[in-house]
Amino acid sequence: MLNFLKRNRQNKTFAALATDMHCHLLPGVDDGSSNLQETVSCLKTLASVGFKKVHFTPHFQANYPNEEEDIKRRFETLKKQLSEKDDGCLPEIGIICGEYRFDPRFVRRPGVDKVLTLPGKRLLCEFSLHFNDYMPVEIFAEYLRLGYKLILAHPERYPYLGIHSQEVEKMKEMGIAFQVNVLSLNGFYGEAAKQKGFDYIKAGMVEYLGTDTHNMRYANALMDTAENKEVQKLMATHTFLNSEL
Ligand SMILES: [Fe+2]
Repeated sequence: MLNFLKRNRQNKTFAALATDMHCHLLPGVDDGSSNLQETVSCLKTLASVGFKKVHFTPHFQANYPNEEEDIKRRFETLKKQLSEKDDGCLPEIGIICGEYRFDPRFVRRPGVDKVLTLPGKRLLCEFSLHFNDYMPVEIFAEYLRLGYKLILAHPERYPYLGIHSQEVEKMKEMGIAFQVNVLSLNGFYGEAAKQKGFDYIKAGMVEYLGTDTHNMRYANALMDTAENKEVQKLMATHTFLNSEL
């Protein structure tokens, strides 16, 4: 009942972002949505908090060694299924991209691997949440040389990466954009990630926000986050670049 009431409150806190550029809602390919119904419910929640368009970013990493061609086929199937289920409450379905994990066990090499990017040849990448001794500066540099723009997903979630660290300084020098998870700002990943999320944003180091929605647990947390007054204030006072995507 509570979720029903929340869903009908339609608190469009994230309308200014327009586009969600980070979610795991391709059914059954990673640790995200497990079936079509869950994907539909999550997408409707994203629309209810203000997102007009959603790009899909399944994991590419050692634990989920997805292949791009297979992922593209699955996305085309999903789009057809969603068009049959569209009752006007779904957001626009964007494009299929990926969230590429750069850690010693898995790195896609530019020019060898065909990566799936966000619009504008923007590559969403992440680090391991556990390895703390690897900073793929050379791989980043290769991508940049080939005209890719890099976006680091959820910098606030890496416990080993400090906001004032040399690694962060180096990435910013290289022009790597940062994307904070909106759920971090409501404490979904704990107090440390919440604090770092706000710190990164207030320091002007964050170009994008993403939901990183995996399933209805995340979607419900997103509705709670849309009610958070501190988050609403942040949305009113900061500009992000999501709408360019
Ligand atoms: Fe993600």
